[in-house]
Amino acid sequence: MPTYNTSPGTRDILAPESARWRAFQQVFADIVERAGFGHIIPPMFEDLGVFLRVGETTEIVTKEMYDFDDKGGRRIALRPEQTASVCRAFVEHRPVTPWKVWYAGPNFRYEKPQQGRYRQFDQVGVEVLGIDDPQLDAEVIALAVDFYRRLGLHGIRLSLNSLGDSGDRDRYATALRAHFTSHLDALSTESRATLERNPLRVLDSKRPEDAPLIAAAPRMADHLTDAAATHFAAVQSALRAAGVDFVIDDRLVRGLDYYRRTTFEFVATSLTAAHTAIGGGGRYDGLVADLGGPETPGIGFALGLDRTLLACDAEGVFAAPTSAVDAFIVDVTGGEQAAQLCTQLRAAGFGVDRAYDSRSMKSQMKVADRSGARVAIIIGEDEVAANTVTVRTMESGSQQLVSRGELVERLKTVLGR
Ligand code: HAM
Repeated sequence: MPTYNTSPGTRDILAPESARWRAFQQVFADIVERAGFGHIIPPMFEDLGVFLRVGETTEIVTKEMYDFDDKGGRRIALRPEQTASVCRAFVEHRPVTPWKVWYAGPNFRYEKPQQGRYRQFDQVGVEVLGIDDPQLDAEVIALAVDFYRRLGLHGIRLSLNSLGDSGDRDRYATALRAHFTSHLDALSTESRATLERNPLRVLDSKRPEDAPLIAAAPRMADHLTDAAATHFAAVQSALRAAGVDFVIDDRLVRGLDYYRRTTFEFVATSLTAAHTAIGGGGRYDGLVADLGGPETPGIGFALGLDRTLLACDAEGVFAAPTSAVDAFIVDVTGGEQAAQLCTQLRAAGFGVDRAYDSRSMKSQMKVADRSGARVAIIIGEDEVAANTVTVRTMESGSQQLVSRGELVERLKTVLGR
């Protein structure tokens, strides 16, 4: 018989790591729901056209899309991200603005798998549509910072840039093209190919031979309109007022084409591998109109769950939650007592598990140990005869005989409830 493993770039997330994922999403939901965001669950696949708006020149669109014809002949793609889906949903449902939504879930990009880079990866994120107030930019960024703090992370660097309005970006692209073209010989082969497609992305090159030319390249800051420059200055002062530390990085262009004005990225300084960007976002004021809706400003971010948890591992914070099982029942009288007690104690609000198949005391105790329960409830013939149970505290090994009628109260005391 053939056997199968997960496809490259995908993983099974098993307990207790899966409980950590849920806790991660729960912490995020708590923060953003208190800030007035509603949960949106967009579909995991859509018409390919929705995602082409992410940028026809980006690798996400040209190389990494999971697209296919479905049985009805539609060109479908698994979502590579969720911002475009949120904007499509906005155009479809026309909610009142400001529309503030958050999401959590998997995305798909056909990338070369590595530590921290997967073909199926999870994000949590927010989007706000309909507001172009720079105070909102700062508030959105501060939400992400707050979230990292709640996870216990300290080593996070926030880089900030403005890509200006669409005209600014085009003028800047022209200036960059002229700069790099006049020094074409000094540019790496890869960056020459990138230059053809999108001169801004050359700034992303990490190749040492490109570094001097990139350092000497024109600056985005010199190509901003007054309106975009004023907006950017206001975002910075609102961030300072909120006590959020940041560095200006005018080489930050991000991997998606829809950005306008404010862009930002969070880097985990604890990670040494190539993939240290654990989250990013920005304004995409033209995207809703590109998808056939009215001119509508938008801003948001997405934080990579997989990579952020690697940063948590590196800092030794946000461990997997402890077992949800409070008590484990060891019944060496056949198992009926265990069945009754499970029902009774679960109804009373305890997390309870048990062993099966009339195993020996020793083997049941082993399972109890593995379960992570703080207490074992042991039932032997003597206990049945006396209508009692033995309550064993796993950590100390101390045991007490408790009458069945007092068990619930005793458990509450032992578990500190
Ligand atoms: P992005 O920078 O493409 O932005 O992705 C955001 C985060 O998702 C990255 O910083 C990274 O942590 C994680 N990520 C991306 N690709 C992978 C991968 N292959 N494996 C593991 N993690 C990955 C966006 O997706 C935008 N939609 C963000 C946004 C929201 N902009 C405005 N609103």
